Amino acid sequence: MSHEQSRDLYDRGLSVLAGGVNSSVRATKPYPFFVQRGDGAHVIDADGNRYLDYVMGYGPLLYGHDLPEPVTAAVQQHVAEGPMYGAPTEIEVKHAEFVARHVPSVEMLRFVNSGTEATVSAVRLARAVTGRDKIVVMQGGYHGAQESTLVEGEPGHPEPSSPGIPEDFAKHTIPVPFNDTETLREVFEHHGDEIAAVLTEPILGNVGIVMPEDGYHDAIRELCDEYGALFVLDEVITGFRVGGLQCAQGRFDIEPDLTTFGKIIGGGFPVGAIGGTAEYVEQFTPGGEVFQSGTFSGHPVTMAAGYENLKYAAEHDVYDHVNGLAERLRSGIADICEDQAPEYTVVGTASMFKTIFTRDAPDTFDDHCESGCAQRESCSRFDHCPKTGDDVRDAATDRWERVFWQEMKDRDIFLTANQFESQFVSYSHTEADVDRTLEAYKEVL
Ligand SMILES: Cc1ncc(COP(=O)(O)O)c(C=O)c1O
Repeated sequence: MSHEQSRDLYDRGLSVLAGGVNSSVRATKPYPFFVQRGDGAHVIDADGNRYLDYVMGYGPLLYGHDLPEPVTAAVQQHVAEGPMYGAPTEIEVKHAEFVARHVPSVEMLRFVNSGTEATVSAVRLARAVTGRDKIVVMQGGYHGAQESTLVEGEPGHPEPSSPGIPEDFAKHTIPVPFNDTETLREVFEHHGDEIAAVLTEPILGNVGIVMPEDGYHDAIRELCDEYGALFVLDEVITGFRVGGLQCAQGRFDIEPDLTTFGKIIGGGFPVGAIGGTAEYVEQFTPGGEVFQSGTFSGHPVTMAAGYENLKYAAEHDVYDHVNGLAERLRSGIADICEDQAPEYTVVGTASMFKTIFTRDAPDTFDDHCESGCAQRESCSRFDHCPKTGDDVRDAATDRWERVFWQEMKDRDIFLTANQFESQFVSYSHTEADVDRTLEAYKEVL
């Protein structure tokens, strides 16, 4: 396998792009492969190497690299008509109508250009409508590259997680452990009249995949109601992936005030959205006073791709296919772990999967979750499975990055390069792809 072209491109990139890349996770070691094109479930790099892809653009590519014909046709039509105007178009309304029809808590939306922009605007809206400054986030949760959420530490000691974020910003954010209702309750007891919102993903998707324990989201809802805070659900990853067209909120019966979207809702083009009840979303300018604006927001090409993407999913067996294959993959990996690495935890749901290199093996596998940890208390592995972001950080994360990922790549399988980011099955993947992947896991684990 030659990598000369990729190495040369990275060398050139290092002179003109920060770190040689445009998003930090892409800078895999010793150098990333540069993609020349996609083909179904595969990517082909600049040296002609072909990899089975489970990164899938970090989530947006529900169909893999070949878009369904109606999506391609709609994109081409909108490009041909002129890419954008600075005036509204019908396709924005159609897409919003579709989303509002399917996602239980969403009556109204504002489209933006990234998941980050969506969470920035959602936090601003929550602060504006409550007249409060503090937000609660989950340790290990991720909501994009924004000042209010790049904060780590304990509830009483928040710290910026990047240079350049003032302590003065971080002090308004309270990080709590995911799945820990008691700590959340204590935080509300101390700061109830200062908290504008609790912001969480339904499933932590950027720190392994951590499922919610039963009742956790209900507890968030109840505490928000009791103290007059907003519940903001970040469905940037889970939106239109977990729970099908109803998203994770439909699957887990969560009732947020605001929902943030990104990734799949734009069909592979840059996108974000804030959805919720009209009572709140209408408060964005120009209807209300909470400033929100963007040159590219509701871009017609993105809206056409997103709308046709979701419409295609509504009319075909897309979710059955991706979820079925991912289940086959998760249970196959769980069987391999049982034989070869009993301390590891297979995680994921719907079309998401990952293996956390947890360190403690249970004594028995009786009645364990067979196709991905579901945080069942009755499971024989319950005491060992990761429940918070910190539990995942305590795993053998180096082994993933330095050994496992590299070895899988040498077998033409492209996984996310660190222990934390989720992997995705697309509509282009096949049973044969899954079986080949399982063979590789068997060799490498
Ligand atoms: C849950 C979640 N929220 C927000 C974001 C930020 O989205 P974007 O990278 O489009 O800004 C991400 C990105 O991965 C995410 O996973």
